[in-house]
Amino acid sequence: MQIFKEIGPLKAFLVEKRKQGNTIGFVATMGALHEGHLKLVRDSRNDNSTTICSIFVNPSQFNNPADLQKYPRTLEKDILMLTETGCDALFCPEVDTMYNQESRLRFDFGQLDKVMEGQFRPGHFSGVALVVSKLFHIVEPDIAYFGQKDWQQFAIIRQLVSELKFNVTLKSVQTLREANGLAMSSRNARLSSADREKAGLISQMLQWAVDKLKGGAAIHDVKKMVTEKLQTEAGFTVEYFEVADSENLTLLNNVTESARPILCIAVFVGDVRLIDNMFL
Ligand code: PAF
Repeated sequence: MQIFKEIGPLKAFLVEKRKQGNTIGFVATMGALHEGHLKLVRDSRNDNSTTICSIFVNPSQFNNPADLQKYPRTLEKDILMLTETGCDALFCPEVDTMYNQESRLRFDFGQLDKVMEGQFRPGHFSGVALVVSKLFHIVEPDIAYFGQKDWQQFAIIRQLVSELKFNVTLKSVQTLREANGLAMSSRNARLSSADREKAGLISQMLQWAVDKLKGGAAIHDVKKMVTEKLQTEAGFTVEYFEVADSENLTLLNNVTESARPILCIAVFVGDVRLIDNMFL
């Protein structure tokens, strides 16, 4: 696997690959890789002749400096995992390479970034959109792969691509889960083994909620029961639990208001913030 820290050499590499008729698949990450990321790389390898991954802990998407500081960084291990998975190239720039001046660009996605993650992490999606725009300009991928766990992020990147006319196909890849159902996430590495085991309850409650809603239960009642169970029995703090339309992210009071509802949750397990979702 070729490793690039600078934009110029990476672009030269990509020009060469395109000249040879290769298609470019792209997996953007913030590192601390796990099987979920590797699934994105594998999917890209299936679809494309060249796969490039980026590892960049993007400061502009962290509204909480402590969260940025604590974000796990495991570059050496990540490189080994990507090499073993057959990734062709890694782009791992320094902050100065991506942000050479105080950036003043801000994105506003309307409803898409006002609810759920957007409500509790102000500025987060503007930072995501900024860095993804930069990465798409640099890599110019044919197909870019994102995990379904970050569904709201996917909806926002889809809007970004449509408005800025990026010539890229986006693919959302199903969330991989640990044996107890916990969605794979770089943040899981910060959980104690007891909390990691207990955190399986989040997806179990999502599945329970899906079943209840399918059975005709009211959203309001299901939300109350899930929140109570996670807070009172497990001792977690539920930041939000919403049922939304998966296209425009309008929050629903009734599942019949949407053709394809999605259940989205954010939970603190100790000081580790986890998100997950499930389609109805
Ligand atoms: O999902 C992530 O890991 C990040 O938000 C992304 C898309 C790599 C942008 O920094």
